[in-house]
Amino acid sequence: MSTSSNAKLLEIANLTMDFRTDEGPVRALDDVSLSIEAGQVLGLVGESGSGKSVTARSIMRLNPGNALIQPESRITLNDGARAYDVLSLRDHALRTVRGGKVSMIFQEPMASFAPAIRLGDQITETICIHLGCTRKEARRRGIELFERVGIPIPEMRFDQYVYELSGGMRQRAMIAMALATKPKLLIADEPTTALDVTIQAQVLDLMMELREKEGMAMLFITHDLGVVSQVADDVTVMKKGRVMEAGPVDDVLYSPQDGYTRRLIEALPSMDRIKELPEHRTDSEALIEVSDLSVSYPVTSGRSGAKVFHAVRNMNIRFPLGDIIGLVGESGSGKSSLGRAMLGAAPISSGKVEYRTIEPISISANNRVNRKKLARVAQLVFQDPYGSLNPRMTVRDIIAEPLEALGLTQNRKETDEKVKEIARLCHLDVSHLRRFPHAFSGGQRQRISIARALVCELLSLSQMNLWPHWMYLSKRRFLLS
Ligand SMILES: Nc1ncnc2c1ncn2[C@@H]1O[C@H](COP(=O)(O)OP(=O)(O)O)[C@@H](O)[C@H]1O
Ligand SMILES: [Mg+2]
Repeated sequence: MSTSSNAKLLEIANLTMDFRTDEGPVRALDDVSLSIEAGQVLGLVGESGSGKSVTARSIMRLNPGNALIQPESRITLNDGARAYDVLSLRDHALRTVRGGKVSMIFQEPMASFAPAIRLGDQITETICIHLGCTRKEARRRGIELFERVGIPIPEMRFDQYVYELSGGMRQRAMIAMALATKPKLLIADEPTTALDVTIQAQVLDLMMELREKEGMAMLFITHDLGVVSQVADDVTVMKKGRVMEAGPVDDVLYSPQDGYTRRLIEALPSMDRIKELPEHRTDSEALIEVSDLSVSYPVTSGRSGAKVFHAVRNMNIRFPLGDIIGLVGESGSGKSSLGRAMLGAAPISSGKVEYRTIEPISISANNRVNRKKLARVAQLVFQDPYGSLNPRMTVRDIIAEPLEALGLTQNRKETDEKVKEIARLCHLDVSHLRRFPHAFSGGQRQRISIARALVCELLSLSQMNLWPHWMYLSKRRFLLS
């Protein structure tokens, strides 16, 4: 690690922050201190809701209006030429720091691009402002970055809109955008969580290479301790807005002093844990059976007229009672299409899906699904929790929606009880149910969508005596959740 000057690149001291909410102020950060030297990679880990993203956004001064930073808090950025007192910066100096000296990669890539402007125009503009070069040079640098982050056909992608890219490609475009201005500090908030294992490795390599070449420092936020041990020099562990433990990666991960850190490490899914699952009853009859299922989407290609794209071909899976089935594959291999077909929401071209529930359900090309019936036995938790939660609805209403739509409860009181029950089961704070989705962390939002998916199941559980069944779609090595 290069430490030419003795002043730290970033120094956060006693950062304390509250959110003003309807239930009064809520402390999100409590006396957080950490520092990063030039060229150093600091890993920031902790359970969801522990304050990692809020800390990162404070460095960029991107916290929402209801955030209240306490006066004793200090954030100092020193690039060797000048020291910036980040929390008191205004206009021009703030713009120099945000996006110039410090850039950030977010958990949700859709949020970092304007939807109606071509990606290339946004990146070129940023490069022109911060590096002061011509548009032509900026464009060349932008396309080169697209190539470096592993975007195929970069010249074509550069002129597209964000919605035209797949999830993995969006993430890579966002990384390219963050790197465009040669920042001194790159804040990466769960940057590789949504990527394939192979692409994740490429992206991590790229980030490490940039760190070597350009002396870029990084604040790397992740819940993946495996990734931290690969990329970080030091690690800081957070819980409930406080720093629990900090130090060199090897010390903290291999001989943790703090009980919380130890539990975090123990909570890692591992192949050993899979063995501890109750014995498979493979002999038992399949509750759900997918036979010879093919899913094909129509595509209109310019010259040759209408064609079809085969996303899933002749798939067979059996789900015995109470099983968790992991489905692994690179992006585009058909995982989500299979999942959607099982819910009657993808075009099945042949084969069928059968639910051997009390009222059997069969889905095939020429059999229209009774959605109400199906919704009681099968639900989907989405990849991108933010995109699937209506921002104008409170969390209570989001979770209650399926109950009300299916007419499963008699009155509001009963609905509220069910909502609270499932919220508790999903480790959500029931006093936060009146909040809107934006006021939750990424992990909490994912639990909201799990709660919504399971709220009907809760009824089936008691009425039909069934266990919830899971199909876990993942690009990752570890499949247990
Ligand atoms: N806009 C907001 N209003 C109120 N509370 C918020 C807001 N944003 C985040 N929080 C709360 O701050 C805490 C820390 O969140 P966050 O930093 O996103 O966690 P994570 O460690 O998962 O990144 C959480 O309890 C979250 O509910
Ligand atoms: Mg977060």
